[in-house]
Amino acid sequence: MAIGRSKVTVVGAGNVGATAAHWIASKELADVVLVDIVEGTPQGKCLDLAQAAPIDGFDVKLVGANSYEETANSDVVIITAGLPRKPGMSRDDLLKTNSDIVGQVTEQVAKYSPNSIIIVVSNPLDAMAQVAFRRSGFPKNRVMGMAGVLDSARMRCFVAEELDVSVENVTCFVLGGHGDTMVPLPRYSTVAGIPITELIAKDKLDAIISRTANGGAEIVGLLKTGSAYYAPSLGAVEMTEAILKDKKKILPCAVFLEGEYGVSNLFVGVPVKLGKNGIEQIIEISLTNDERTALHKSAAAVQELVDILNI
Ligand code: LAC
Repeated sequence: MAIGRSKVTVVGAGNVGATAAHWIASKELADVVLVDIVEGTPQGKCLDLAQAAPIDGFDVKLVGANSYEETANSDVVIITAGLPRKPGMSRDDLLKTNSDIVGQVTEQVAKYSPNSIIIVVSNPLDAMAQVAFRRSGFPKNRVMGMAGVLDSARMRCFVAEELDVSVENVTCFVLGGHGDTMVPLPRYSTVAGIPITELIAKDKLDAIISRTANGGAEIVGLLKTGSAYYAPSLGAVEMTEAILKDKKKILPCAVFLEGEYGVSNLFVGVPVKLGKNGIEQIIEISLTNDERTALHKSAAAVQELVDILNI
């Protein structure tokens, strides 16, 4: 039996990366290496976080770095590097710049942690996960994108608010790419086991669905100088925890599909089982014709980006 702490590298010490490091440390999940090209930023944030440890009582090692030697033999690597969206900018505007950044980062990650599991958070999410998959050369069970956990958390938040019930009672399913074409599935979304279609009137539900699909843009519009980070980082950390603890947890993640849901050679968000081997199963649920059409439309939007990048 392996004894000792797990090791997680977080690439990108911006808001998403630093907050991911924070959640990992406060949950005492693993030692963390935070990497960024900006000198001093990952070191400073790690030192600050390490000084919070005696107050909260977590025992993990926190190391900031500007290169990848320190990241060697990480179990999980969360890639948040890239530019965030500015107001009025779509996730897709970021395509070329972030694909170069994610590609270079992935090469370093694969070199130093050849057995790691990569979770991509950089946007445009599904295309960036595909970049990491191609550039790492890792098998498909070890590369995934974080989007569905965030998108469904947004929907859960809005449903809980609408019904004035605990967020813990609410389960929501959101499939497809992380973009305006994402596919919230009310039929598979429940409150204490009761489908939300039984509890919320159609017009209210439609408003929740639309707010969910535009959830990222709503926050960009408010923040003006950046995008969301508390929920996105915690989404990646929930996936990390499921892997490190071998929980076999079913979560919606962007994964490489090879025929499942009628989609081939493309990263799209679907429910998967996460455990110590990464993606241990892709779960195919039955969809109505409309749901399937919406999923394929969303996949087509991802395919467009993948075609531009030629990956
Ligand atoms: C969001 C951005 C990060 O959904 O994609 O908040």
